[in-house]
Amino acid sequence: MKNQLPQSKEHEKTLGLFDLAILGIGAIIGTGILVLTGIVAAEDSGPAIVFSFLIAALASGLIGLCYSELTTSLPNSGSAFFYAWVAIGKFVAFLAGWTLIGVYVTTTATVANGWTGYVQSFLEVLGINLPHRFLVTPAAGGFVNLPAVLMIILMTVILTRGTSESKLVNNFLVGVKIFIILIFIIVSTQHVNPANWHPFLPYGYQGIFTGASAVFFSFLGFDALATSAEDAKDVGHTIPRAIILCLLVSTALYVIVSLVMTGVVPYKKLNVSEAMSYVLISQGHDYVAEVVSLGAVLGIMAVVFAFIYAGSNILKSMSRSRFLPKGLATLNARTQSPNRAIWLVGLAAAVFAGEFDLHYLALIANIGSLTVFLLISLIVIILRYRYPELKRPFKVPFGNVIPTCSIIICIVLLVSISLKAWATYLVWIALGLIVYFCYSLKHADEFNFTKEE
Ligand code: ALA
Repeated sequence: MKNQLPQSKEHEKTLGLFDLAILGIGAIIGTGILVLTGIVAAEDSGPAIVFSFLIAALASGLIGLCYSELTTSLPNSGSAFFYAWVAIGKFVAFLAGWTLIGVYVTTTATVANGWTGYVQSFLEVLGINLPHRFLVTPAAGGFVNLPAVLMIILMTVILTRGTSESKLVNNFLVGVKIFIILIFIIVSTQHVNPANWHPFLPYGYQGIFTGASAVFFSFLGFDALATSAEDAKDVGHTIPRAIILCLLVSTALYVIVSLVMTGVVPYKKLNVSEAMSYVLISQGHDYVAEVVSLGAVLGIMAVVFAFIYAGSNILKSMSRSRFLPKGLATLNARTQSPNRAIWLVGLAAAVFAGEFDLHYLALIANIGSLTVFLLISLIVIILRYRYPELKRPFKVPFGNVIPTCSIIICIVLLVSISLKAWATYLVWIALGLIVYFCYSLKHADEFNFTKEE
């Protein structure tokens, strides 16, 4: 390997701090806060879910700083797959990329799955009742979650037509999401009854960590900014600030929403997928609930859009580097979008969303994400030793302390996740090993800076 190091490609950089923050918030706020909060409060943490959110936020902040160092030093849309390829080697790079594909598919499926609850709640107030067996997955006694499947297919079709108009739509949808969350807070706060916060820790301290490993899902998406580094102005300054800003805004909203939700309704009753509108309806605010449901329906669609896009980017990046068949990276001549990769991610997500339970899907997404984040933190340390001369527009302060804390917190959250979700992740990795030894090992090379850049 030549020791010449890659530098950022010279092309027009259009994204400032505000654009990046909006992009991040667009991917972050979705099913996690709108759907999972109620379920996790009921099943895992009780009102102490507020601490679960704070732990997950701390983890995301530490990981976000590590991401910032890598993404500003090695801007590339392949994200963890690319960093691992540069820092460690092709086997680990494949596993990171393969895990990320699984993460984006299961995240899309979780988000879409949760979306159905708000569609249902919106239609119910209008007096329209869809047949139950086409609304819930087999685990919940139904046949298929059909609205989720159809929504993913719709987003897939839109993505295959190109993404150039998506920035304006994204800005609008971020506004909608923040608006409905604020409306929920303003209207519901007056109904808080502190008696509902007792007991505050019904599932003990372990419940806080189990909850944190589930609500960590609500913060996924800050890593999406890593794939935008090539387009960011003054990258070393804007990317870390944008990540921290997104996390501060989302943490503030999540903490207030979870306190209000568990303060208005006893936590045990929150085991529903449309918790916000449920809480509002329980207090007689049907009209506000309708507005919130409509906003959630629109806002959650944007998250699905962002994650199918991110998944197709990883597939594209891996197939360009010959870790997967080259045909997957082919761009459509008219729209310049990687349509085969988009369809593959979209269809896989549709199957999962239709057939699997939301809480379980979120846990699988979290295992994959936390594993990749652990690797990201480790790569920061490895790259510093391996390539000390690499130009780093942003460097995580205090030596290796923050990456090490980030590794520890990822491990703590990983061991709090159920064995069933772990088993599914390991099956995914086993499939990946077959692909690696039958295909990637022969076709992909070790990373060579001069050849790649
Ligand atoms: N953080 C994203 C959500 O909660 C994945 O929907």
